[in-house]
Amino acid sequence: MKLQSLLLVAVTATTTFAAQQPILGAFAIGVSNLTASTDFYMNQLGFVSTGQTFDVASYNEIVLKLPGASSGSALALMQFKDGRNVEKQAAKLMLFVEDVDVMLKKMEDNGLEILARPGVTLVNGKNTTMPTVMARDPDGYILEFNPLSTFNTSGTGF
Ligand SMILES: *[C@@H]1O[C@H](CO)[C@@H](O)[C@H](O)[C@H]1NC(C)=O
Ligand SMILES: *[C@@H]1O[C@H](CO)[C@@H](O)[C@H](O)[C@H]1NC(C)=O
Ligand SMILES: *[C@@H]1O[C@H](CO)[C@@H](O)[C@H](O)[C@H]1NC(C)=O
Repeated sequence: MKLQSLLLVAVTATTTFAAQQPILGAFAIGVSNLTASTDFYMNQLGFVSTGQTFDVASYNEIVLKLPGASSGSALALMQFKDGRNVEKQAAKLMLFVEDVDVMLKKMEDNGLEILARPGVTLVNGKNTTMPTVMARDPDGYILEFNPLSTFNTSGTGF
């Protein structure tokens, strides 16, 4: 009887804890031109519209996502109405793609700054061969592309 009560408490506690876990529904970045950024993320990176747009006091926002059920959090783009500078903010989006070379070519064709190409680089103090491509989006946010084959489907991706 006593053991049963203890178990019940444990089960209840676990359930309550799980229910309190947040989920990352969307990550939002400030952009300088909502039309241009929406176009870039949809036409170059394959994001689709969720149909959600918000015109609120301080910004206009559009919520995009990658197609598919397990494609990560939504990406919201916000254009602030006070015209604040959003250039080269210290933020990075990590994307897993079928072919990093295709993305590298695409970023080059868009005239974007390439920060990293596949090759040997220092990682955790060791020269390591990395497949990673990094480029800056039209506002300077870093886009990191890694092969889909390195995505851990049984974990959170890492
Ligand atoms: C924003 O981007 C669109 C599409 O690229 C362009 O037509 C428009 O002139 C830009 N607006 C400003 C204010 O630069
Ligand atoms: C990494 O490679 C560079 C270029 O070959 C070399 O100069 C450097 O000493 C290497 N660093 C380590 C930690 O092995
Ligand atoms: C993949 O993720 C699972 C769960 O987080 C973890 O146990 C496992 O070690 C990961 N595998 C690799 C190869 O990183």
